[in-house]
Amino acid sequence: MAATLHPRRVDAFGELAGELGLCFGGDYNPEQWPREIWREDAELMVRAGVNLVTVGVFSWARLEPSPGERDFGWLDEVLDLLHAHGIAVDLATPTASPPPWLGILHPETLPVNPDGVRLVAGSRNQFTPASRVYREHAVSIATAMAERYVDHPAVRMWHVGNEFGQIDFGDEAAREFRLWLRERYGTIEALNNAWGTLVWAQRYRDFDEVLPPRRMPYLVNPAQSLDFRRYTSWALQRVFTEQRDAIREAGATQPITTNFMGFEPLTDLWEWAADVDVIADDQYPDHGSATASSDIALVQDLMRSLGGGRPWALMEQAVSATSWRPHNLPKSADRARLDSLQAVARGADAICFFQWRQARTGAERFHSALLPHAGADTEVFASACALGADLQKLRPVVGGRVAASVGVLFDWPSWWAAEEPGRPTERLRTLEQVQRWHRALWRRGIAVDLVKPGADLSAYAAVLVPHSYIVETDAAAALRAAVQRGASLVVGPFSGVADAHAGILTGRSPVLLRDLVGVSGEEWVGLPDAPTRVAAESAWTTAPAVAEASVLGERLRADGAEVLARFEDGHLAGAPAITRHRVGEGTAWYLGAVLSDAALAAVLDDALDAAGVTGVVPDRVLPEDVEGIRRGDALFLLNHGEGTRHVTVPGPHRDLLSDADVDGQATLAPGAAMVLIERHAE
Ligand code: GLA
Repeated sequence: MAATLHPRRVDAFGELAGELGLCFGGDYNPEQWPREIWREDAELMVRAGVNLVTVGVFSWARLEPSPGERDFGWLDEVLDLLHAHGIAVDLATPTASPPPWLGILHPETLPVNPDGVRLVAGSRNQFTPASRVYREHAVSIATAMAERYVDHPAVRMWHVGNEFGQIDFGDEAAREFRLWLRERYGTIEALNNAWGTLVWAQRYRDFDEVLPPRRMPYLVNPAQSLDFRRYTSWALQRVFTEQRDAIREAGATQPITTNFMGFEPLTDLWEWAADVDVIADDQYPDHGSATASSDIALVQDLMRSLGGGRPWALMEQAVSATSWRPHNLPKSADRARLDSLQAVARGADAICFFQWRQARTGAERFHSALLPHAGADTEVFASACALGADLQKLRPVVGGRVAASVGVLFDWPSWWAAEEPGRPTERLRTLEQVQRWHRALWRRGIAVDLVKPGADLSAYAAVLVPHSYIVETDAAAALRAAVQRGASLVVGPFSGVADAHAGILTGRSPVLLRDLVGVSGEEWVGLPDAPTRVAAESAWTTAPAVAEASVLGERLRADGAEVLARFEDGHLAGAPAITRHRVGEGTAWYLGAVLSDAALAAVLDDALDAAGVTGVVPDRVLPEDVEGIRRGDALFLLNHGEGTRHVTVPGPHRDLLSDADVDGQATLAPGAAMVLIERHAE
């Protein structure tokens, strides 16, 4: 369903960043302020080094105060003013929030929740992606904007809607879901078979009887739920592509994008990725969490991977506190700088914020902004200016690529299906496992790409499958080919369990992978709260002192694989817990349980050693809390910790940020960052 990316568009963002350098700025909402303030805004933007702002995101009520009555005068003035100050504009279609009149005139445009309650205007995002009327109004305003501004010199990028992630269970959604199902299945018999509707007497006589998974007396059919998620992502994507196409039809040659939300569960970003000209993402790490820095690194790796390695745009982040958490911790200036540099390190060529000027009114009045309520005479604004200056020093990294030799399998349908209720344990969470495995590599300074199942894996020396509940034939074949030619493969528990319709694959598991991993299983069980001991066999020469399992285990039998460790006690006592199988030129590890961090790290180290994967530092050992990643010719070192850290960096380097020479050892104060270039490479 994803349209082919027009080749002309592939480098459009690259061209922009090539011209502007790293883009720096944020959401600018002049419609919320009297026009007397606009000039001050533009002047302060120039002072801060802002070169790109996103305009118009929530301006529909101002652009179209009544149906069909358009007022573009204010926007003309804003775009001219920004252009006169040398600031480029990412012009947004205002369609994330229709004005109240749309829902009043056309109540069917409003979304309905699973309990049948229709949501109303007064907040934002009150639309259903299913509604033809909403979509027509959205395309109409997008077309009018595009026709008016396609040649405006300030407009260098287009931004459709905002943070697609709306879900609707109402009659409009039911209609569109049925059409989508007809297209997917052809006949109602095919749907009944795929969904297994003879369980609990769910058999449908006609597509017209099928509903979105609204509130039900008990658990929903997991196949119905999975398809409704697929449909929802598709319906949202259609809202995006309709407006994108309207902008293109008006003659736009600028890159067109929308802002993703990382691992957002309502959008299958592998499906979306080819439809945007540049991957853009909003990132609000919770620094109250001890794993925030590695978790956000994972999101950044996903964004780079979605774009096939091309630079991406950090479209929104907070300069200090958010206002939507129950308790909002501020960011220090160092933290805000480090977050931004981390995104650059992992492939971003745009560092933007929500928002430029802090709102005085409305629900987000306490959300931080580059220009706070207190004005320009503030530490926050000073730090924004300092960040702008830092980013200008990083021009040499623009366009640079991150080369990753490890691929981690992840996809949305597998995640969705894995987390439907009614499974051995609700404690096994796909994203949590991906984060744990990724964190082990992050700590070792090893760059990782996220990979869609079925994709070509030839670029990777090691492939990791932390938890892929659904594994289809093409994905299994790609994994096999990778191992055959010499890659290390590590497969985590409860992988390869189900087919594309969330139906369990019968036979010893993992059905499509068991020959490859040389081990097979017959039951999945929740493990007790107290960790289960895992005893290393002599073959596991690098076993940690203590290896434990928890959450979920499998009853395995070795069918050709070496057993590296067995469960020591409990229901699975004596059964293999970790195995290794040589196939072709490579090796496949299988983990029959969720392993403790030390045991998981030991297996991953073995697999990385076998594949010859090195990190950015010798021995893959970075000091605690230090992130290291190479982008193009630059080595980024970021100290996320509280103490001073030293990193060995052989050879003469220069730090682009401080302009200091670094010879042999980099010393990083808490919260400090370096971007090192080899001196002879300059
Ligand atoms: C999102 C939205 C913005 C704003 C910020 C606040 O990213 O896109 O409009 O609400 O969150 O954190």
